[in-house]
Amino acid sequence: MSAKSDLANAAIRLATEDDAPALAPLCGELGYPSTEEATRARLTALLARPDDHVVFVAAQDDAVFGWGSAAVTRLLESPDRAELTGLVVTEVARGRGLGRRLVAAVEEWARERGLTLIGVRSNVVRTDAHRFYEGLGYGRAKQQVVFRKPLGRPDP
Ligand SMILES: CC(C)(COP(=O)(O)OP(=O)(O)OC[C@H]1O[C@@H](n2cnc3c(N)ncnc32)[C@H](O)[C@@H]1OP(=O)(O)O)[C@@H](O)C(=O)NCCC(=O)NCCS
Repeated sequence: MSAKSDLANAAIRLATEDDAPALAPLCGELGYPSTEEATRARLTALLARPDDHVVFVAAQDDAVFGWGSAAVTRLLESPDRAELTGLVVTEVARGRGLGRRLVAAVEEWARERGLTLIGVRSNVVRTDAHRFYEGLGYGRAKQQVVFRKPLGRPDP
């Protein structure tokens, strides 16, 4: 891949299990190093729940340049909404519109489910991503502190 036009015909499509080998290194680029095996297992689990979960990929000529995932968040205290749960475009392919197109695909998926709100949680250090989201019309809603506690079992 060399010129920007090289990705002009990239397709945004639903992920399949065959994408696992390409998605694993992209998880690493997002900051979550993942083996192909673990990525495949998680992808398979997500693909088995198409009502509430989706994974899109940006691909061209069998090469995958990015992915975006979303889920329906169901809470007792507020209406169902969509959550953009992950988004990454490989570094050499950034700035060519793939991130915008992945987000658009996720938003359309959410609209098709009758959802009227979409959110994304982004680490405070990802200031570049914040500008990206703001450019796509996302407004800052609130800041949170994320608490976690290990439950004494290794990750599956
Ligand atoms: C954030 C990310 C997905 C954007 O993907 P991308 O393909 O480079 O974005 P696009 O080319 O579709 O850009 C869409 C618009 O956002 C703007 N934009 C993209 N990155 C930007 C940045 N760092 N700062 C400001 N604006 C930015 C583009 O200029 C473009 O605007 P335009 O259409 O008016 O020219 C990509 O930079 C990435 O993977 N970053 C690392 C992982 C990450 O932070 N993910 C988000 C986790 S919450």
